[in-house]
Amino acid sequence: MIRSVLLGTGSALPRNCVTNSELEERVDTSDAWIQERTGIRQRYLAGEGETTGTLAIDAAKAALEVAGLKGEDIGLIIVATATPDQTFPAVATSVQHALGANGGIAFDVQAVCSGFLYALTTADSLLRTGAAKRALVIGAETFSRILDWEDRTTCVLFGDGAGAVVLEASEADDARGILGSKLHADGQHQELLYVDGGPSTTGTVGKLRMKGREVFRHAVVNLADVLNEVLDEAGVSSSQIDWIVPHQANRRILDATAKKLGLPSEKVVVTVDKHANTSAASVPLALDTAIKDGRIKKGDLVMLEAMGGGFAWGASLIRI
Ligand code: ACO
Repeated sequence: MIRSVLLGTGSALPRNCVTNSELEERVDTSDAWIQERTGIRQRYLAGEGETTGTLAIDAAKAALEVAGLKGEDIGLIIVATATPDQTFPAVATSVQHALGANGGIAFDVQAVCSGFLYALTTADSLLRTGAAKRALVIGAETFSRILDWEDRTTCVLFGDGAGAVVLEASEADDARGILGSKLHADGQHQELLYVDGGPSTTGTVGKLRMKGREVFRHAVVNLADVLNEVLDEAGVSSSQIDWIVPHQANRRILDATAKKLGLPSEKVVVTVDKHANTSAASVPLALDTAIKDGRIKKGDLVMLEAMGGGFAWGASLIRI
Protein backbone atom coordinates (compact mmCIF):
# COMPACT_ATOMS: atom_id res chain seq x y z
CA MET A 1 0.00 0.00 0.00
CA ILE A 2 1.32 3.45 -0.92
CA ARG A 3 1.39 5.93 1.97
CA SER A 4 2.57 9.53 2.28
CA VAL A 5 5.48 9.38 4.72
CA LEU A 6 6.86 12.39 6.58
CA LEU A 7 10.50 13.06 5.69
CA GLY A 8 11.04 16.37 7.48
CA THR A 9 9.52 19.48 9.01
CA GLY A 10 10.57 23.12 9.21
CA SER A 11 9.23 26.45 10.35
CA ALA A 12 9.89 30.18 10.23
CA LEU A 13 8.89 33.13 12.39
CA PRO A 14 9.18 36.87 11.82
CA ARG A 15 12.03 38.68 13.63
CA ASN A 16 9.75 40.80 15.81
CA CYS A 17 8.37 39.19 18.98
CA VAL A 18 5.60 41.24 20.65
CA THR A 19 4.59 40.47 24.24
CA ASN A 20 1.14 41.06 25.73
CA SER A 21 2.60 43.92 27.81
CA GLU A 22 3.77 45.63 24.63
CA LEU A 23 0.24 45.30 23.21
CA GLU A 24 -1.11 47.09 26.29
CA GLU A 25 0.50 50.23 24.86
CA ARG A 26 -1.35 49.78 21.56
CA VAL A 27 -4.90 48.76 22.61
CA ASP A 28 -7.07 48.78 25.74
CA THR A 29 -6.13 45.31 27.01
CA SER A 30 -4.01 43.64 29.67
CA ASP A 31 -1.50 40.81 29.87
CA ALA A 32 -3.68 39.22 32.58
CA TRP A 33 -6.87 39.26 30.40
CA ILE A 34 -5.10 37.80 27.37
CA GLN A 35 -3.36 35.04 29.34
CA GLU A 36 -6.43 34.10 31.33
CA ARG A 37 -8.81 33.93 28.30
CA THR A 38 -6.43 32.50 25.70
CA GLY A 39 -3.10 31.29 27.18
CA ILE A 40 -1.25 33.62 24.77
CA ARG A 41 1.85 35.37 26.17
CA GLN A 42 3.47 36.67 22.98
CA ARG A 43 3.27 36.53 19.19
CA TYR A 44 5.60 37.24 16.23
CA LEU A 45 4.55 39.99 13.82
CA ALA A 46 5.89 40.40 10.29
CA GLY A 47 7.92 43.55 9.67
CA GLU A 48 9.63 45.23 6.75
CA GLY A 49 10.48 42.72 3.99
CA GLU A 50 8.68 39.83 5.68
CA THR A 51 5.64 38.40 3.89
CA THR A 52 3.67 35.16 3.75
CA GLY A 53 5.89 34.23 0.78
CA THR A 54 9.22 34.87 2.53
CA LEU A 55 8.10 32.96 5.63
CA ALA A 56 6.85 30.07 3.48
CA ILE A 57 10.16 29.92 1.61
CA ASP A 58 12.20 29.91 4.85
CA ALA A 59 10.02 27.17 6.38
CA ALA A 60 10.25 25.11 3.16
CA LYS A 61 14.06 25.41 3.06
CA ALA A 62 14.29 24.29 6.69
CA ALA A 63 12.06 21.26 6.01
CA LEU A 64 14.05 20.31 2.89
CA GLU A 65 17.29 20.47 4.86
CA VAL A 66 15.93 18.07 7.49
CA ALA A 67 14.72 15.75 4.71
CA GLY A 68 18.14 15.93 3.02
CA LEU A 69 16.52 17.01 -0.25
CA LYS A 70 16.84 19.80 -2.82
CA GLY A 71 14.11 21.84 -4.51
CA GLU A 72 14.46 19.79 -7.68
CA ASP A 73 13.40 16.66 -5.73
CA ILE A 74 9.94 18.17 -5.11
CA GLY A 75 7.17 17.67 -7.67
CA LEU A 76 4.25 19.15 -5.73
CA ILE A 77 4.01 22.28 -3.58
CA ILE A 78 0.82 23.31 -1.81
CA VAL A 79 0.68 26.44 0.34
CA ALA A 80 -2.26 26.87 2.70
CA THR A 81 -2.88 30.56 3.29
CA ALA A 82 -5.63 33.14 3.63
CA THR A 83 -3.11 35.99 3.46
CA PRO A 84 -1.24 35.57 0.15
CA ASP A 85 1.33 38.16 -0.97
CA GLN A 86 -0.92 39.00 -3.93
CA THR A 87 -4.41 37.90 -5.03
CA PHE A 88 -2.54 35.93 -7.66
CA PRO A 89 -0.24 34.22 -8.57
CA ALA A 90 -0.27 31.57 -5.87
CA VAL A 91 2.33 31.84 -3.11
CA ALA A 92 3.22 28.23 -3.96
CA THR A 93 4.63 29.38 -7.31
CA SER A 94 6.95 31.87 -5.52
CA VAL A 95 8.11 29.10 -3.21
CA GLN A 96 8.64 26.81 -6.19
CA HIS A 97 10.75 29.38 -7.99
CA ALA A 98 12.80 30.24 -4.87
CA LEU A 99 13.59 26.55 -4.34
CA GLY A 100 14.44 25.86 -7.98
CA ALA A 101 11.61 23.32 -8.20
CA ASN A 102 10.10 24.79 -11.37
CA GLY A 103 7.94 22.61 -13.58
CA GLY A 104 6.06 20.56 -11.01
CA ILE A 105 2.60 21.20 -9.53
CA ALA A 106 2.19 24.32 -7.34
CA PHE A 107 -0.97 25.92 -6.00
CA ASP A 108 -2.51 27.51 -2.90
CA VAL A 109 -5.35 26.22 -0.75
CA GLN A 110 -7.64 28.58 1.14
CA ALA A 111 -9.45 27.05 4.09
CA VAL A 112 -8.33 29.60 6.69
CA CYS A 113 -7.19 27.96 9.96
CA SER A 114 -7.90 24.44 8.70
CA GLY A 115 -5.98 25.19 5.49
CA PHE A 116 -3.01 23.02 6.44
CA LEU A 117 -5.27 19.99 6.98
CA TYR A 118 -6.94 20.63 3.61
CA ALA A 119 -3.52 21.00 1.93
CA LEU A 120 -2.09 17.91 3.63
CA THR A 121 -5.07 15.77 2.64
CA THR A 122 -4.91 17.04 -0.96
CA ALA A 123 -1.18 16.36 -1.16
CA ASP A 124 -1.66 12.88 0.32
CA SER A 125 -4.28 12.08 -2.36
CA LEU A 126 -2.09 13.38 -5.19
CA LEU A 127 0.95 11.46 -3.95
CA ARG A 128 -1.01 8.22 -3.64
CA THR A 129 -2.33 8.55 -7.19
CA GLY A 130 1.21 9.03 -8.51
CA ALA A 131 0.90 12.69 -9.55
CA ALA A 132 4.21 13.35 -7.81
CA LYS A 133 6.76 11.43 -5.74
CA ARG A 134 7.49 14.10 -3.13
CA ALA A 135 5.52 17.08 -1.85
CA LEU A 136 6.07 20.17 0.23
CA VAL A 137 2.99 21.16 2.22
CA ILE A 138 3.23 24.58 3.81
CA GLY A 139 0.99 26.65 6.07
CA ALA A 140 2.00 30.32 5.99
CA GLU A 141 0.22 33.46 7.17
CA THR A 142 0.62 37.14 7.96
CA PHE A 143 -2.68 37.71 9.75
CA SER A 144 -1.25 40.86 11.36
CA ARG A 145 -1.91 42.54 8.00
CA ILE A 146 -5.67 41.83 8.06
CA LEU A 147 -6.25 42.64 11.73
CA ASP A 148 -8.18 45.69 12.89
CA TRP A 149 -5.69 47.06 15.39
CA GLU A 150 -8.50 49.15 16.95
CA ASP A 151 -10.48 45.99 17.81
CA ARG A 152 -9.12 44.54 21.03
CA THR A 153 -11.42 41.49 20.80
CA THR A 154 -9.47 40.16 17.78
CA CYS A 155 -6.08 41.85 17.38
CA VAL A 156 -4.56 40.31 20.53
CA LEU A 157 -5.29 36.76 19.37
CA PHE A 158 -3.20 36.34 16.21
CA GLY A 159 0.43 36.10 15.09
CA ASP A 160 2.42 35.47 11.89
CA GLY A 161 4.56 32.51 10.85
CA ALA A 162 4.97 29.45 8.64
CA GLY A 163 5.45 25.71 8.97
CA ALA A 164 6.27 23.11 6.33
CA VAL A 165 6.41 19.34 5.92
CA VAL A 166 8.01 17.17 3.24
CA LEU A 167 6.07 14.05 2.26
CA GLU A 168 7.13 11.13 0.08
CA ALA A 169 4.98 8.45 -1.53
CA SER A 170 6.36 5.23 -0.09
CA GLU A 171 5.49 1.55 -0.45
CA ALA A 172 7.47 0.66 2.68
CA ASP A 173 5.26 -1.46 4.88
CA ASP A 174 6.41 -0.11 8.25
CA ALA A 175 3.02 1.49 9.06
CA ARG A 176 4.50 5.00 8.89
CA GLY A 177 2.76 7.86 7.11
CA ILE A 178 -0.70 9.39 6.90
CA LEU A 179 -3.17 6.75 8.10
CA GLY A 180 -6.42 8.65 7.62
CA SER A 181 -7.92 12.12 7.21
CA LYS A 182 -11.35 13.77 7.29
CA LEU A 183 -12.37 17.22 6.10
CA HIS A 184 -15.63 19.13 6.60
CA ALA A 185 -17.12 22.56 5.97
CA ASP A 186 -20.41 24.22 6.89
CA GLY A 187 -21.03 27.56 5.18
CA GLN A 188 -24.01 28.61 7.27
CA HIS A 189 -21.94 30.30 9.99
CA GLN A 190 -19.84 32.63 7.86
CA GLU A 191 -20.89 35.73 9.77
CA LEU A 192 -19.18 34.42 12.91
CA LEU A 193 -15.70 34.60 11.39
CA TYR A 194 -14.87 36.39 8.15
CA VAL A 195 -12.91 39.19 6.47
CA ASP A 196 -14.99 42.24 5.49
CA GLY A 197 -13.37 42.79 2.10
CA GLY A 198 -12.06 41.05 -0.99
CA PRO A 199 -11.16 41.55 -4.67
CA SER A 200 -14.66 40.83 -6.01
CA THR A 201 -16.71 42.78 -3.43
CA THR A 202 -15.02 45.83 -1.96
CA GLY A 203 -11.85 45.71 -4.03
CA THR A 204 -9.96 45.96 -0.72
CA VAL A 205 -8.16 43.42 1.41
CA GLY A 206 -10.52 43.90 4.38
CA LYS A 207 -10.17 43.19 8.09
CA LEU A 208 -10.86 40.10 10.18
CA ARG A 209 -14.17 40.08 12.11
CA MET A 210 -15.05 37.44 14.67
CA LYS A 211 -17.70 36.61 17.25
CA GLY A 212 -15.27 34.74 19.46
CA ARG A 213 -17.67 33.24 21.96
CA GLU A 214 -19.81 31.54 19.27
CA VAL A 215 -16.74 30.34 17.36
CA PHE A 216 -15.47 28.74 20.55
CA ARG A 217 -18.72 26.81 21.06
CA HIS A 218 -18.75 25.39 17.51
CA ALA A 219 -15.02 24.60 17.57
CA VAL A 220 -15.15 22.20 20.52
CA VAL A 221 -18.12 20.22 19.13
CA ASN A 222 -16.85 20.01 15.53
CA LEU A 223 -13.32 19.06 16.51
CA ALA A 224 -14.36 16.29 18.88
CA ASP A 225 -16.64 14.84 16.15
CA VAL A 226 -14.00 14.85 13.40
CA LEU A 227 -11.35 13.37 15.68
CA ASN A 228 -13.64 10.47 16.53
CA GLU A 229 -14.41 9.97 12.81
CA VAL A 230 -10.70 9.67 11.95
CA LEU A 231 -10.07 7.31 14.87
CA ASP A 232 -13.02 5.09 13.88
CA GLU A 233 -11.91 4.90 10.27
CA ALA A 234 -8.30 4.07 11.19
CA GLY A 235 -9.48 1.50 13.77
CA VAL A 236 -7.49 3.24 16.50
CA SER A 237 -8.61 4.20 20.00
CA SER A 238 -7.84 7.61 21.51
CA SER A 239 -5.65 5.95 24.16
CA GLN A 240 -3.25 4.83 21.40
CA ILE A 241 -2.51 8.42 20.37
CA ASP A 242 0.92 9.60 21.53
CA TRP A 243 0.39 13.28 20.71
CA ILE A 244 -2.36 15.57 19.52
CA VAL A 245 -1.18 18.63 17.58
CA PRO A 246 -4.16 20.96 17.43
CA HIS A 247 -4.69 24.27 15.69
CA GLN A 248 -3.42 26.78 18.24
CA ALA A 249 -6.33 29.18 18.63
CA ASN A 250 -6.92 29.23 22.32
CA ARG A 251 -5.61 27.20 25.26
CA ARG A 252 -9.16 26.66 26.53
CA ILE A 253 -10.28 25.12 23.20
CA LEU A 254 -7.26 22.77 23.30
CA ASP A 255 -8.07 21.67 26.84
CA ALA A 256 -11.80 21.28 26.16
CA THR A 257 -11.20 19.19 23.02
CA ALA A 258 -8.68 16.90 24.77
CA LYS A 259 -11.12 16.43 27.64
CA LYS A 260 -13.95 15.46 25.28
CA LEU A 261 -11.69 12.75 23.82
CA GLY A 262 -10.59 11.60 27.27
CA LEU A 263 -6.95 12.52 26.50
CA PRO A 264 -4.69 13.89 29.24
CA SER A 265 -3.51 17.46 28.66
CA GLU A 266 0.14 16.20 28.74
CA LYS A 267 -0.47 14.66 25.30
CA VAL A 268 -1.51 18.00 23.77
CA VAL A 269 1.20 20.03 22.03
CA VAL A 270 0.72 23.65 23.06
CA THR A 271 2.51 26.54 21.34
CA VAL A 272 -0.26 29.13 21.44
CA ASP A 273 1.54 30.77 24.39
CA LYS A 274 4.54 31.59 22.15
CA HIS A 275 3.04 31.98 18.66
CA ALA A 276 -0.63 32.96 19.29
CA ASN A 277 -3.05 31.92 16.53
CA THR A 278 -1.15 31.76 13.23
CA SER A 279 -4.12 30.34 11.28
CA ALA A 280 -2.98 27.82 8.60
CA ALA A 281 0.60 27.96 9.92
CA SER A 282 -0.23 26.88 13.44
CA VAL A 283 -0.42 23.08 13.04
CA PRO A 284 2.86 22.65 11.06
CA LEU A 285 4.57 25.21 13.33
CA ALA A 286 3.49 23.28 16.43
CA LEU A 287 4.44 19.95 14.82
CA ASP A 288 7.92 21.23 13.92
CA THR A 289 8.39 22.70 17.41
CA ALA A 290 7.47 19.41 19.12
CA ILE A 291 9.67 17.32 16.80
CA LYS A 292 12.65 19.67 17.22
CA ASP A 293 12.38 19.76 21.03
CA GLY A 294 12.24 15.95 21.13
CA ARG A 295 8.67 15.48 22.34
CA ILE A 296 7.43 13.86 19.12
CA LYS A 297 9.65 10.98 18.00
CA LYS A 298 9.82 8.67 15.01
CA GLY A 299 7.13 6.00 15.32
CA ASP A 300 4.76 8.16 17.40
CA LEU A 301 1.09 8.21 16.48
CA VAL A 302 0.06 11.85 16.08
CA MET A 303 -3.32 13.44 15.48
CA LEU A 304 -3.38 16.81 13.69
CA GLU A 305 -6.58 18.87 13.80
CA ALA A 306 -7.89 22.35 13.01
CA MET A 307 -11.04 24.39 12.64
CA GLY A 308 -11.57 27.91 11.38
CA GLY A 309 -13.51 30.34 9.21
CA GLY A 310 -16.10 28.90 6.85
CA PHE A 311 -16.55 27.03 9.11
CA ALA A 312 -14.07 24.51 7.74
CA TRP A 313 -12.39 21.83 9.84
CA GLY A 314 -10.48 18.58 9.59
CA ALA A 315 -8.13 16.07 11.16
CA SER A 316 -5.33 13.73 10.05
CA LEU A 317 -3.76 10.76 11.81
CA ILE A 318 -0.09 10.24 11.03
CA ARG A 319 2.56 7.77 12.17
CA ILE A 320 5.75 9.89 12.28
N1 ACO B 1 -8.66 42.87 26.56
C1 ACO B 1 -9.46 43.14 27.60
N2 ACO B 1 -10.80 42.92 27.58
C2 ACO B 1 -11.32 42.38 26.47
C3 ACO B 1 -10.54 42.07 25.33
C4 ACO B 1 -9.14 42.34 25.42
N3 ACO B 1 -8.30 42.07 24.42
N4 ACO B 1 -11.33 41.56 24.39
C5 ACO B 1 -12.57 41.52 24.89
N5 ACO B 1 -12.58 42.03 26.15
C6 ACO B 1 -13.71 42.16 27.04
C7 ACO B 1 -15.03 42.24 26.29
O1 ACO B 1 -15.27 43.56 25.87
C8 ACO B 1 -16.02 41.78 27.34
O2 ACO B 1 -16.28 42.86 28.22
P1 ACO B 1 -17.76 43.09 28.80
O3 ACO B 1 -18.07 41.85 29.57
O4 ACO B 1 -17.59 44.32 29.63
O5 ACO B 1 -18.64 43.25 27.59
C9 ACO B 1 -15.22 40.73 28.14
O6 ACO B 1 -13.83 40.97 27.83
C10 ACO B 1 -15.57 39.30 27.79
O7 ACO B 1 -15.61 39.15 26.37
P2 ACO B 1 -15.96 37.78 25.69
O8 ACO B 1 -15.85 37.95 24.21
O9 ACO B 1 -17.24 37.27 26.25
O10 ACO B 1 -14.75 36.90 26.22
P3 ACO B 1 -14.54 35.36 26.10
O11 ACO B 1 -14.36 34.77 27.43
O12 ACO B 1 -15.50 34.67 25.17
O13 ACO B 1 -13.10 35.30 25.39
C11 ACO B 1 -12.14 34.95 23.22
C12 ACO B 1 -12.94 35.88 24.12
C13 ACO B 1 -10.76 34.81 23.79
C14 ACO B 1 -12.08 35.55 21.83
C15 ACO B 1 -12.82 33.57 23.19
O14 ACO B 1 -14.20 33.68 22.94
C16 ACO B 1 -12.22 32.67 22.15
O15 ACO B 1 -11.07 32.31 22.24
N6 ACO B 1 -12.99 32.26 21.17
C17 ACO B 1 -12.53 31.39 20.12
C18 ACO B 1 -12.01 32.22 19.05
C19 ACO B 1 -11.10 31.45 18.23
O16 ACO B 1 -10.48 30.51 18.68
N7 ACO B 1 -11.00 31.82 17.00
C20 ACO B 1 -10.11 31.23 16.17
C21 ACO B 1 -10.64 29.96 15.58
S1 ACO B 1 -10.74 30.09 13.94
C22 ACO B 1 -9.36 30.83 13.51
O17 ACO B 1 -8.33 30.49 14.03
C23 ACO B 1 -9.42 31.92 12.49
